[in-house]
Amino acid sequence: MDFRLTEEQEMIREMVREFSEKELKPKAAYYDETGEFPFEPLRKLAELGLMGMNIPPEYGGSNVGTVAYSLAITEIAKGCASTAVTTSVTNMVAEVIYEFGTEEAKSKYLPKICSGEYPAGAFALTEPHAGSDAASIRTTAVRDGDYYVINGQKTLITSGEHAGVAVVWAVTDKEAPKGKGISAFIVEKGTPGFIVGKNEKKMGQRASSTNDLFFEECRVPKENLLGKEGDGFKISMVELNGGRIGIASLALGIGYAAIDYATEYAKTREQFGQPIANFQAIQWMIADSYTELDAAQLLVLRAAFLKDQKVPFAKEASMAKLFASETAKRVTMRAIQILGGYGYTKEYPVERYHRDAIVTTLYEGTSEIQRLVIARSILGKRLGTYR
Ligand code: CAA
Repeated sequence: MDFRLTEEQEMIREMVREFSEKELKPKAAYYDETGEFPFEPLRKLAELGLMGMNIPPEYGGSNVGTVAYSLAITEIAKGCASTAVTTSVTNMVAEVIYEFGTEEAKSKYLPKICSGEYPAGAFALTEPHAGSDAASIRTTAVRDGDYYVINGQKTLITSGEHAGVAVVWAVTDKEAPKGKGISAFIVEKGTPGFIVGKNEKKMGQRASSTNDLFFEECRVPKENLLGKEGDGFKISMVELNGGRIGIASLALGIGYAAIDYATEYAKTREQFGQPIANFQAIQWMIADSYTELDAAQLLVLRAAFLKDQKVPFAKEASMAKLFASETAKRVTMRAIQILGGYGYTKEYPVERYHRDAIVTTLYEGTSEIQRLVIARSILGKRLGTYR
């Protein structure tokens, strides 16, 4: 067993850390306040090769692997969580197209995602009545000659209004048993009948957009089907396993940013005639936070390593997401506690870190769904192999 990163992984981490410190951190409060979409940072991240980290170079990706991807998302999230979630979901969309798209679809869409020509990609699975119970979606796709005609509604879709391309799940066989009649399609922005709805006003990660999407007689070429008809639900599950590594990595970044800030604060803030870092109550909060974050990172890197080895990693990805997101929520609360009343004000970034951390326990499967996946795996329910 070797815990050392490769030279390339170290290099990527350093590069992204520097970028995040210089370009993301100084503007994060602005993006949070205004809710403005971070177009410019995202374009620069694409230039650095961070939008197709598991995509081969012939399609414009950097193909550096999931461990490097995890490290990069953590560093981005230290600077700006909204930028990190947009990057993470865009990578996931690139991966699903790469894994299941036709050669034509790969050549057409992947270079645009990887280069930043598309500001983002969207993963359109969730519907008003189908969140945790994703197999109960109602959007339909009916074959009509060389096209599929999509009708329905999606909700809470990250980057919905800015994505150049969305992967959309729809029922193609209403008679099939639950989860077996769903298919996945690539839908380009601007396709007639693809309508973007409201952008939710959120508690945190406010600069990432979160939209309703409507499909009204939306005609999509049959070549835009991913995999085979009926494979869609499995495809979504498999991709979410990888996505969960991204969200776990993001949660880690927020947690580290919060406790790094609070630790520096504790060294300079004086009460009772001395820095509050001298008090054991503060020391234990710092010690517990770094211990829990490092433990979470080991789970995240294990899941990333397994994915890179192309062996099953669903349970490990869910463990990583569960533990990292819940840890980030706890650690960001402690950071507020260390700063006391100041921690509750917008003069300091820790209240934002806490708001940004909360959603990591919700999207790409709530903590309760992660526990369900883990328990089913332990109790013997097969969770699919890697592909
Ligand atoms: N990996 C691989 N396969 C999986 C899997 C996983 N994690 N979870 C389920 N499967 C497989 C099962 O093995 C089963 O396969 P077989 O048919 O071969 O037996 C099939 O999928 C159906 O599974 P279940 O019978 O367990 O289905 P279910 O309906 O009882 O439960 C669920 C499935 C795990 C609860 C699933 O619906 C789920 O993960 N829900 C959460 C949805 C989610 O994460 N949504 C996130 C939206 S996207 C997002 O948030 C992105 C963003 O914008 C930030």
